[in-house]
Amino acid sequence: MITYHERERIFKLDSPNTSYMIGIVDEENFVGHIYYGKRLKEAEASYLMRTQEKPFVPSRNNRERGAFYDGFPFEYPVGGLGDYRESCLDIRTAGGHAGAMLSYVSHEIMRGKPGLCGLPATFGTEEECETLKLVCEDCYVGMRVELLYTVFSDSDVITRSVRVENGGKEHFYLTKVYSACIDMDSRDYDMISLHGSWARERHIQRKPLGYGIQNVSSFRGESSHQDHPFLALADRHTTQEHGEVYAMNFVYSGNFRAQAEVSQFDGVRLSMGIHPENFCWKLEPGESFQAPEVVMVYTDRGLDAMTNTFHGFYRKHLLRGKYKDKKRPILINNWEATYFDFDSDKLLSIAKEAASLGIEMLVMDDGWFGRRNFDDCALGDWVVNEEKIKGGLAALVEEVNKLGMKFGIWFEPEMISPDSDLYRAHPDWAIAIPGRPGTQIRQQYVLDLSRKEVVDHIYAMVSAVLKSANVEYVKWDMNRQLSDMGSAALPPDRQGELYHRYVLALYEMQNRLTTDFPDLLLENCSGGGARFDPGMLYYSPQIWCSDDADAIERLKIQEGTALIYPLSTMGAHVSDCPNHIVGRTTPFETRGVVALAGTFGYELDITKISEEERNQIPGQVAMYHKYNDLVREGDYYRIASYSQNHMFDCWQVVSGDKRESLVTFVQVLTRANYRSRRILLKGLSEDTRYEVQILSARGEKEGDVWICGGDTLMSAGVLVPDMPGDFRSKLIYLTAVD
Ligand code: GLA
Repeated sequence: MITYHERERIFKLDSPNTSYMIGIVDEENFVGHIYYGKRLKEAEASYLMRTQEKPFVPSRNNRERGAFYDGFPFEYPVGGLGDYRESCLDIRTAGGHAGAMLSYVSHEIMRGKPGLCGLPATFGTEEECETLKLVCEDCYVGMRVELLYTVFSDSDVITRSVRVENGGKEHFYLTKVYSACIDMDSRDYDMISLHGSWARERHIQRKPLGYGIQNVSSFRGESSHQDHPFLALADRHTTQEHGEVYAMNFVYSGNFRAQAEVSQFDGVRLSMGIHPENFCWKLEPGESFQAPEVVMVYTDRGLDAMTNTFHGFYRKHLLRGKYKDKKRPILINNWEATYFDFDSDKLLSIAKEAASLGIEMLVMDDGWFGRRNFDDCALGDWVVNEEKIKGGLAALVEEVNKLGMKFGIWFEPEMISPDSDLYRAHPDWAIAIPGRPGTQIRQQYVLDLSRKEVVDHIYAMVSAVLKSANVEYVKWDMNRQLSDMGSAALPPDRQGELYHRYVLALYEMQNRLTTDFPDLLLENCSGGGARFDPGMLYYSPQIWCSDDADAIERLKIQEGTALIYPLSTMGAHVSDCPNHIVGRTTPFETRGVVALAGTFGYELDITKISEEERNQIPGQVAMYHKYNDLVREGDYYRIASYSQNHMFDCWQVVSGDKRESLVTFVQVLTRANYRSRRILLKGLSEDTRYEVQILSARGEKEGDVWICGGDTLMSAGVLVPDMPGDFRSKLIYLTAVD
């Protein structure tokens, strides 16, 4: 999979359908990017680095060093010496200077994939992947940089990361360390990214790439609602089914920048890494810094292929734990049912009703601890409020278990309320700038997780609660973004490390939790879906997608999320109507089929919904049990996008063996005097005949079953019957008959 061609000085990295080539140039040993794309047979084409064109490599033409630097396709560019495009690595020496340049020193090709110290990362066995470690250095600073590339035999994925080591005699500061860069020729590309806000996360944006810098980023201390650590360049003509796409996704949950820069010579530099704003990491001699991982996907088969490459890869090489490829218990969460106004009697009345309808787990959300009766206090006081939870947690959980249900609980471990016993005892444990009043968001501060005593204290409280009762699920929330960056424990020249140290400590806490409680189902959350990223998915196989559970709003949110992440990871619930966020009323069955595209659960007061709605729940539960294997493990195809057509949405899942498939169709707006809609299915076997059954959104058969070839279903399509009314939906279920 990885070969080094000594005569040509080319590294060739091959996945099943792609090749990536790196070249080493002349005596200066610069490392350049040659090619990334469709798989090639030979290691050649080093002419793509254009070292035969003026300005020549500096050692042959020492006059034009700057001009060379500014055009060469660096594999990992460093700033300060004349490459004026955006660098991937910037330093400041002890003397206060910037500027370095990397040259190849050595390399190693190894089977398997090393873990990244303290960071989440994708993994694979020695049979599944191979890793290239390219060692480069700047001998003036004494800086050693290791570029790591892993290719997989079962996925068209290349992962990258970078480790920087101070091999010199003096300290220096890293002021920027990105994790990956591809310096290639620009074409007629569109840039695809995900953007949003609270309650409308990860909407897809596609726009033409122009000259200059275009980026998406977060310096909110988390991957954020607003932008997403993902960027793709797609040929202007690329569709769901056809065309080239280059995509990068960051396995990191903090500040990031994902960027494309089109240069004066029509090159495009695609880069991704930790956001350099307010980042400054001191490296003493002998110390090293490990940058997080980037997952790169290339395909020439359109966006569906990109999506399924990410899905399959993450299911196999990122998700972990007991529930990685298992059905998750259908849960009912009390947040939208009660907000802070509940006690154990109320919870048990919800649980009783839910259990009788087939729901499998009760989740107790915010408000069970300290004096937390509103969102203005008690974060940090992780002790059960026995005025609400009478007789304590164990008693409540026992009652819930007696109903045949599991029990789950909500925490927000990274936070501290100014009105809390914890803050009164340790005001310096909050992140703050000394002498400046702190910015409160949702009336809370963020804990300084860079301090071990803080992490230990909080973790001890959380784990004591978990050990006190049979808790089988945790929703780990994070409801404000970081600001006022200051740690009472870090020296002045290490304050710029706080953002990253925070993320490392968060990972360490989640690692402890999943190690100490290996059977726990962990669901991450951040004010809805502000930290839905591969970093968090390494610890929790599912993440709450958005606080907006309105079925129509969810179409765009789930489409954008599923562009990269498997459906098995998307926290999705049937919630109450009128919807608490947008005030829209949608049919209960449409809420059901939209939530069935994710983990599935309920978030409403089941004791108060109408008889008609309650009666639908057993049917939805049965549909979950019937289709969830397919939804969780199947390939996912986007058939129509409501965000593009503003009328209807349609997606399809197909089992790996292509013998079973489910199509979900949501008619957002009805039309006057039209006939049925024709849709073309995808992903089936052309040579297989399928039994096709139209189902109502309640799962009831509509009309007769008919048999049809996969080729017909994909090329000629099927008709979705007309539905009067808005927000209506239907399913089509297909099973192979030969
Ligand atoms: C966040 C979560 C919600 C709920 C509340 C509780 O907003 O996304 O689901 O848990 O916090 O405060």
